[in-house]
Amino acid sequence: MKTYLVTGGAGFIGSNFIHYMLKKYNDIKIINLDKLTYAGNLENLKDVEKDSRYSFVQGDICDKQIVEQIFTNNNVDYVVNFAAESHVDRSIKEPEVFAMTNVLGTVNLLNVAKNFWQEREGFKEGKKFLHVSTDEVYGSLGETGYFMETTPIDPHSPYSSSKAGSDLMVKAYADTYKMPVNITRCSNNYGPFQFPEKLIPLLINNCLNKKALPVYGDGMNIRDWLYVEDHCKAIDMVINNGRLGEVYNVGGHNERTNIHIVKTVIAYINENVDSEVTENLIKYVEDRKGHDRRYGIDPTKIKEELGWEPETPYEEGIKKTIKWYLDNQDWMKNVTSGQYQNYYTSMYGSK
Ligand code: NAD
Ligand code: TYD
Repeated sequence: MKTYLVTGGAGFIGSNFIHYMLKKYNDIKIINLDKLTYAGNLENLKDVEKDSRYSFVQGDICDKQIVEQIFTNNNVDYVVNFAAESHVDRSIKEPEVFAMTNVLGTVNLLNVAKNFWQEREGFKEGKKFLHVSTDEVYGSLGETGYFMETTPIDPHSPYSSSKAGSDLMVKAYADTYKMPVNITRCSNNYGPFQFPEKLIPLLINNCLNKKALPVYGDGMNIRDWLYVEDHCKAIDMVINNGRLGEVYNVGGHNERTNIHIVKTVIAYINENVDSEVTENLIKYVEDRKGHDRRYGIDPTKIKEELGWEPETPYEEGIKKTIKWYLDNQDWMKNVTSGQYQNYYTSMYGSK
């Protein structure tokens, strides 16, 4: 029986990961530590909240006492660190909280895990700290080439810089204390339960409400889209078989321009709703400051070492995603009903 401390499990990828793991394994225990910021939502986990293998602790990864209490009360085998401030636009407006959670929070988790694992039983086999990072730490690509694990980190936004900072601290714990760690760096995820400040759910939400679809700059920036369940599978494989201390890039050669994403979302929404959404809703707006032009991952290492490959083609993934949002419109209403304001609305008012 393995015990997982999953941080940020009430967010988008974390909640998908918890679902994935509880479905795949019978004999595991998952403790979800989440602060429940605007991005964390217990509704994402409604169908597992009564599962005896799952428990929830509301708390901050920066809080040493809470993390120590979890380690004291449980024999934690794996830490899977999803908890983060995750939105680039917000990081441009308020960078401090990104440094706090993403860097200091990760260091706090590392430190408590190190102390418990080292003092209680040494770094025994079967313990691991898996840090979920991003391809954005590599910076921006030109028209050719891909990010490899050996690509030097060169982050630009406060978000990606804070993630790079946390990656370096994870590496430092491995190099200095021989702590068993892995870092995964994935490309842009999409799928159910993603907060509608990120491009794809924002587009779906705005299409359904006939609101403008903001496209930053010329719409030709490129992201490498990964269906969230494929990402969860990769994390599980890295936990089980990743070589200690290694970084694994996770992505699926699925590069699309933003304007392509906008047009496919409109097209697939129109296949499913009665009142037509037209491309007249597209609104080119001022570009994001420091907007990275292109991300693209070379996933050769995870494929060759662990046998991982993405299984969901974009056309299938985007249809499944849109269907999920159409079937869960109450979820969308609930998560956007609080203090949430998207970046564009907060900068330019609602249009
Ligand atoms: P998210 O914003 O949807 O969820 C983050 C979760 O962390 C929320 O539940 C939030 O309440 C929680 N949280 C925030 N601050 C916390 C704190 N101080 N203590 C405890 N919990 C806290 O993010 P996501 O999209 O699910 O991303 C998860 C991880 O994956 C992040 O580390 C992110 O950097 C990384 N990542 C995401 C993507 C993507 O496309 N979404 C791509 C690459 C990497
Ligand atoms: P986003 O989902 O914020 O992810 P990231 O910045 O981490 O890649 O944005 C994806 C791409 O879409 C990025 O190039 C910015 C662009 N974008 C828009 O054009 N309009 C929007 O309203 C948003 C949120 C993003």
